[in-house]
Amino acid sequence: MAISYHRPTAIFVDLAVIKENVAHAVLQQQGKRDVFVAVKANGYGHGAVPVAKAAIAAGATGLCVATIDEGIALREAGLTQTILILGLVDVQWLPLIIQYHLAIPVATQEWLEEAWSVYQNERLSGQVYLHLAIDTGMGRIGFQENQAVLAAVHWLENHPSFVWEGIFTHFSTADETDTAYWKKQNERFNTLIATLPRVPRYIHTSNSATTLWREDVGNVVRLGIAMYGHNPSGGLLPMSPTLKPALSLESELVQVKKVPAGAGIGYGKSYETKQSEWIGTVPIGYADGFVRGMQGFYVLVEGQRCEIIGRVCMDQLMIRLPHSFETGTKVTLIGKNQEEVITIEAIAEHLGTINYEVLCLLAERIPRHYLNTTGIFE
Ligand SMILES: Cc1ncc(COP(=O)(O)O)c(C=O)c1O
Repeated sequence: MAISYHRPTAIFVDLAVIKENVAHAVLQQQGKRDVFVAVKANGYGHGAVPVAKAAIAAGATGLCVATIDEGIALREAGLTQTILILGLVDVQWLPLIIQYHLAIPVATQEWLEEAWSVYQNERLSGQVYLHLAIDTGMGRIGFQENQAVLAAVHWLENHPSFVWEGIFTHFSTADETDTAYWKKQNERFNTLIATLPRVPRYIHTSNSATTLWREDVGNVVRLGIAMYGHNPSGGLLPMSPTLKPALSLESELVQVKKVPAGAGIGYGKSYETKQSEWIGTVPIGYADGFVRGMQGFYVLVEGQRCEIIGRVCMDQLMIRLPHSFETGTKVTLIGKNQEEVITIEAIAEHLGTINYEVLCLLAERIPRHYLNTTGIFE
């Protein structure tokens, strides 16, 4: 994907804010738990490598990604900390996993046995770092039966090249007001841990919501959305005011024109001017992750809300302006413009989705610029 540096649409990520958010989370753990940060999906749209470096500088000790390739990208950028892949991986990639020293989840005994065959057949050497995934009620990945976990633990004792580094589960309702199902999952995990003959180095269950709002076991948290300053529950549960969003999205007016009453705007002529109106064109569209559903929402120009009118095109959109502006005037699509702010959460609400999705959709072709609050440094 070619990053579009030569158009005035860009994402700004304040790494000082990321660092403050992570430092706050580290402080909250009072030295009792490690903070691993989730930088999968290009660091929730913020850029995985700069965010990972900032988080490590602020006290995080591990990184979570979704795929082998995301892990390799971090290693190639020089990150030496624990990198845990959260999704299941095929045994054929064992050589890469060993080469890049990636920790991986295991969900079945069959996987262990297949992986052992690959290890032997390909005459691999080196250690494979494994985290047993436990499905306590998410229904996604992991062992379901305690007996199967015990069998895997026993198997691992006889296969020292396969290092049992961790055990974890994932909660499905930690961001909701009703705690009953969360408690059930937590209890299942605790019961399992109590039956184990020994425990591995890392025990982890906490995502952001659990870290913010629940008491659970474990000596590691896997912090995602909260590190980026966003509320895992949208707005349902109160967010710590210390955690601040780090990302803004800006562009410029590339054309400003006055059109007569009755003019059609955009594909399908879904907006027709009621009177003579000032229309501005902004170079961002659904190919940037600024999806068609944004029609009817607004952007900020000199502190004023301007409605997105007509259908959002692939690379451009049109807005209704209160009066004429110079071309080149700044347009804020996410973030602060004078006294007005557009939050990711407001966009998510408009689209009927969650803040996570809005962030992850921001396309790689939008350049990311990194700030330290006082100026661009990367
Ligand atoms: C297994 C696992 N742990 C942790 C996280 C981080 O979650 P959050 O962004 O809600 O903190 C995720 C994200 O989806 C995940 O899948």
